[in-house]
Amino acid sequence: MELLEVRGLVKHFNGVRALKGISFSLREGEILGMIGPNGAGKTTLVNIVSGIYRPTSGDVFFQGERVTGKPSHAMARMGVARTFQHIQIFPEMTVLENVMAGYHIRGSSGVIPCLFHFPSVRREEEGAVKRALEVLDLVGLRDKAKWPAFALPYGDQKKVVIARALSGNPKILMLDEPAGGLNEMETQEMGELLEELRRLGITLVLIEHDMTLVMDVCHRILVIHHGRRIALGDPQGVRRDPQVIHAYLGENV
Ligand SMILES: Nc1ncnc2c1ncn2[C@@H]1O[C@H](COP(=O)(O)OP(=O)(O)OP(=O)(O)O)[C@@H](O)[C@H]1O
Ligand SMILES: [Mg+2]
Repeated sequence: MELLEVRGLVKHFNGVRALKGISFSLREGEILGMIGPNGAGKTTLVNIVSGIYRPTSGDVFFQGERVTGKPSHAMARMGVARTFQHIQIFPEMTVLENVMAGYHIRGSSGVIPCLFHFPSVRREEEGAVKRALEVLDLVGLRDKAKWPAFALPYGDQKKVVIARALSGNPKILMLDEPAGGLNEMETQEMGELLEELRRLGITLVLIEHDMTLVMDVCHRILVIHHGRRIALGDPQGVRRDPQVIHAYLGENV
């Protein structure tokens, strides 16, 4: 089944034509790679799907419903989560607090109950801690929950932001360069984590420049060049595609 469909997305930033009409769909349970040279439009595409930007034209459908232009908190509540290319960590806060910083999208208590410490707030808080510990367990960091985030190696910090994205229990998780800046060992661990998430039923979009990781874990790969889709298919086909080699892989493989 198709979980997400993107039709003819165009995005202009003043003079810059970042996306020139991109279409693709995301199948439930797959890992879809998204590759292309710097400035190709990958992050812009994720920003539109996750509701951070409105497209200039084109549409996004989630589970058959048109969701074009819905704000990011609404998309998150529907089950579309993402991580950012530039790691967003609060260094002085604990690992647990960093994960809980993502929990507010599920919180339902308003300001007044919070002010008066109503039991509903305490229950919500306890639920948030429980969920944060669960996702930390999933990424292998439960035993470091009390550590300040700055004390973790970079690879673990990247897992913390993934845990935060997971705390809302997403159906789709879009990861913008999760292996960027990681060493070989950390990259391999990241690949294992992505496969584990997929086994748990989360559909993944993986923007990544590390071709070994992309070729290893992705079922299909979407190649973007100058705001256009130049290929979409299985890793073997994409790797051999002359247009892809010319535009991108030539210098990367
Ligand atoms: N908020 C913005 N304002 C103006 N231009 C933007 C904005 N965001 C992206 N762009 C431009 O849109 C184009 C696509 O950028 P985008 O960040 O989507 O590329 P990318 O494929 O993610 O590249 P990279 O691999 O370097 O992360 C670039 O020319 C970029 O400068
Ligand atoms: Mg980018």
